Amino acid sequence: MAEEQRTGDGVKDLRRRVPEPYSLVAEYPPKITRRSFFMSWAGAAWTAFGAASGAGTLAMLRYMMPNVLFEPPQVFKAGKPEDYEWDRPDERFKQDKKTWIVKLSKDYNGRQKVLVALDTTCTHLGCTPNVLFSESKIKCPCHGSGFRFTGINFEGPAPRPLERYAVSIDPIDGQIVVDKNRKFQQEKGQWEDKASFIDLSTA
Ligand code: FES
Repeated sequence: MAEEQRTGDGVKDLRRRVPEPYSLVAEYPPKITRRSFFMSWAGAAWTAFGAASGAGTLAMLRYMMPNVLFEPPQVFKAGKPEDYEWDRPDERFKQDKKTWIVKLSKDYNGRQKVLVALDTTCTHLGCTPNVLFSESKIKCPCHGSGFRFTGINFEGPAPRPLERYAVSIDPIDGQIVVDKNRKFQQEKGQWEDKASFIDLSTA
């Protein structure tokens, strides 16, 4: 009897703890109320609105950001004049700076002992020429233009000399400073500008 009572109490206890079975099962098919219908469409609409707004904001930010082109610095130091040989274009800055440093015992106009920085861009159609040391010239492989080590053109279709960059000596450490922001063209008389060469005649 005591056992029965215990069992009966146990069943009651179980009923108390386990909710009605069907209250755990979702209604299927789900009942669509006007409220749930509205809420589902409103949710979708807000999601779409949020996505569109986000995309618009991103597009606006992208528009406001400047188009930055990362290039090597336009001003660089190139060691000291004594690091260079006379009358031999130095190629250590050809690849990444597109520059030949040339220490000339005599410039195209007779000026003695100058150091210049030549732009390695051919003045015909922009190829990069090669230094032919054995022939004492700079030769463009594209259409055959030839330049003296001074930069003066003398053969082929190039219509004008190579261009020169501004050069100076840093007063603190004595190094050559090449400024590619400033260019000088011989045919415009700009090679007479003192910024287009370093005078080594008194060095
Ligand atoms: S690009 Fe150099 S000769 Fe034409």
